[in-house]
Amino acid sequence: MAERDPKKFDPARAASLDAAEREDYLPSEKLVALLELDGSETVLDYGAGTGRLALLAAERAPGGRVVAVDESPEMIEHLKRRLAAAPNTEAVLIVANQVPLADHVVDRILAVNLLHEIRGEGALSEMRRVLAPMGVLLVVDWERGGRRQGGPPDEILYTAGEAASELRSNGFDTAEIDAGLPFHFAIRATPPADTNSY
Ligand SMILES: C[S@@+](CC[C@H](N)C(=O)[O-])C[C@H]1O[C@@H](n2cnc3c(N)ncnc32)[C@H](O)[C@@H]1O
Repeated sequence: MAERDPKKFDPARAASLDAAEREDYLPSEKLVALLELDGSETVLDYGAGTGRLALLAAERAPGGRVVAVDESPEMIEHLKRRLAAAPNTEAVLIVANQVPLADHVVDRILAVNLLHEIRGEGALSEMRRVLAPMGVLLVVDWERGGRRQGGPPDEILYTAGEAASELRSNGFDTAEIDAGLPFHFAIRATPPADTNSY
């Protein structure tokens, strides 16, 4: 059997994504509010896990659509069950960061607890490809070096500064958001203004 990549989430721990205490330090409502939805957007939840955030985003965008992607077949099964009753959602298994969407059609991308898992992959350039000129990518991840309760080992995490630099090298402008999260940084990443015409 192939060895697990140590930076990747273990699907056997899926229940931890839905643990009640997670809401104490990473409230779903707060994260989805940071997307500033008006209700009509196309939202891509990249690495959507069990779909907790995708489902809430779908409720906040009743006139839009949520595409929840994950590379793990096990997590896609969770997603399909979670999103089954939400008509404006779809769960899509992706391979090698190939998202089956056209260029620049996504208004919001949610990437929560994902950045440290996609280090060295092409996921950020794929996000840049599908994001609309006026779109927003919200990156929230465990911050390296902070006082943390659980979460992945420090050595695989980013500081907020390193995360912003990684995003900029993939063609985004960045602004750190003070979201008041005790263990996580939040970054709003957008296409540079001078590329808004394409
Ligand atoms: C720690 S979980 C977070 C899940 C969800 N975003 C949340 O906050 O509840 C990370 C998820 O990203 C998925 N993932 C990791 N790398 C990925 C990639 N390159 N493409 C798609 N999904 C990926 C994993 O399978 C896992 O479901």
